[in-house]
Amino acid sequence: MTTRIDRDIVIIGAGASGLTAATSLRRAGLTVAVLEARDRVGGRLWTDDIEGATLEIGGQWVSPDQHALKETLAELGLETYSRYRTGENVYINDSGVRTRFEGEIFPVSPETQAEIVALIATLDELVAEVDPDRPWAHPRAVELDRISFAGWLATQTADQEARDNVAMFIAGAMLTKPAHAFSALQALLMAASAGSFSNLVDADFILDERVVGGLQQVPLLLAEQLGDDVHLGQPVRTLRWSDEGVVAVTDGLEVHARRAILALPPTLLSRISFEPALPRRQHQLHQHLSMGLVIKVHAVYKTPFWREDGLSGTAFSPYELVHEAYDNTNFGDDRGTLVGFVSDEAADAVFRLPAEERRARILLSLSHYFGDKALSPAVYYESDWGNEEWTRGAYAASFDLGGLARYGADLRTPVGPIHFSCSDLAGKGYQHVDGAIRMGRDTAAAIAAVLEPVLEPVGALTSVLD
Ligand code: FDA
Repeated sequence: MTTRIDRDIVIIGAGASGLTAATSLRRAGLTVAVLEARDRVGGRLWTDDIEGATLEIGGQWVSPDQHALKETLAELGLETYSRYRTGENVYINDSGVRTRFEGEIFPVSPETQAEIVALIATLDELVAEVDPDRPWAHPRAVELDRISFAGWLATQTADQEARDNVAMFIAGAMLTKPAHAFSALQALLMAASAGSFSNLVDADFILDERVVGGLQQVPLLLAEQLGDDVHLGQPVRTLRWSDEGVVAVTDGLEVHARRAILALPPTLLSRISFEPALPRRQHQLHQHLSMGLVIKVHAVYKTPFWREDGLSGTAFSPYELVHEAYDNTNFGDDRGTLVGFVSDEAADAVFRLPAEERRARILLSLSHYFGDKALSPAVYYESDWGNEEWTRGAYAASFDLGGLARYGADLRTPVGPIHFSCSDLAGKGYQHVDGAIRMGRDTAAAIAAVLEPVLEPVGALTSVLD
């Protein structure tokens, strides 16, 4: 049985971006239907209870420049709290030597420190010239998009440890791809989207706050307000479109609308059959984007034992399996939680191992930072987004070499009645919830500026087709 629904706009994907767009369009007096493939809303935001521990399986941190996200949190009445960061951080060098330190610069030799400071200064200067919404417009965009970030770093310094550390911030920590797999321009976009390279390097900035009760409350509360207009378990298989409008087809629904917003990662667009097919340009550009890969590891302990030892829980090493770790203890929780990240090729390697061996290897790496107590958590969980059919990687999608300069300007260009909205297409807030919200707002505003409400109020036009 297929049910027909008529709305002004059909939104495909109930992540932060799609739900923000739907909310804004409703406010503009337009009717909406949101179709979500999964049996839950939130997409890459997912707060769940695992063996009695509440874990942020997906996105969680909020930084001070993420104004769109902060406004949404305030509108929804959600409270934030600071990430625990009191005490000393830990760095492990390429010889496996562990050093405790305070401040932003790693405890490396004075020569390497000077190289890192110089690299960051050069990157900050370049980033200041890049408009995150139009990185392809930089006068040297083509040149910077032809060289990998690893290759570019090699042109700047011969100091390997300096290069490894600076690469880590964009590669393992952000795009979750090896630094040879994306361009210097893509790296500059990542930094420009957060205001500066210094901001990205500064964990106290980029990983500043968390939301009490979890960040998935944003999509959950937005969906609650949208009520019956959010349809779960409805993967869109086909999108028919013409200048007159669109028909989005799922296994049980057919939504007829004047416009569609595709609020899903661009890497998943080819899962939908477009009738007629999308234009050549979109076919090509979507193939030049790919998802990164990261395992977010959660280890919950009876107590935050590292704090007693004067440690903040913050740790870094480009040479460790877990390249970064943080105190991720929930607000008001007596237990202690560490979160660590295993990225790209390191993730490939441990995914080849049986689950028990992978867990042992990852916990061993955490113990290199925090001592033997890290080996025995009460709860252990790996967020595995690469295995999620409706995401297929983490954190987000980025271009291959040359792709950003070549295709970037068309990333967000609508095709007839079809609009695109997702954190992975954002400029400011790129790859972050803030970008998802900005895109949702902007896409809704562009549609509301040209569409007058004509349909009956919500729910008026639903009928069973057969
Ligand atoms: P998102 O992918 O969330 O939503 C798309 C939706 O479309 C999904 O619900 C999907 O099921 C649905 N869909 C796909 N195909 C469909 C189809 N054919 N039909 C219907 N529905 C379909 N950000 C941040 O700000 N701070 C952080 O700390 C982190 N950390 C982090 C950790 C991890 C492990 C991950 C995976 C991600 C983050 N992020 C993050 C990134 C952040 O979570 C992400 O950028 C946004 O949540 C993306 O929101 P979108 O709505 O753009 O896409």
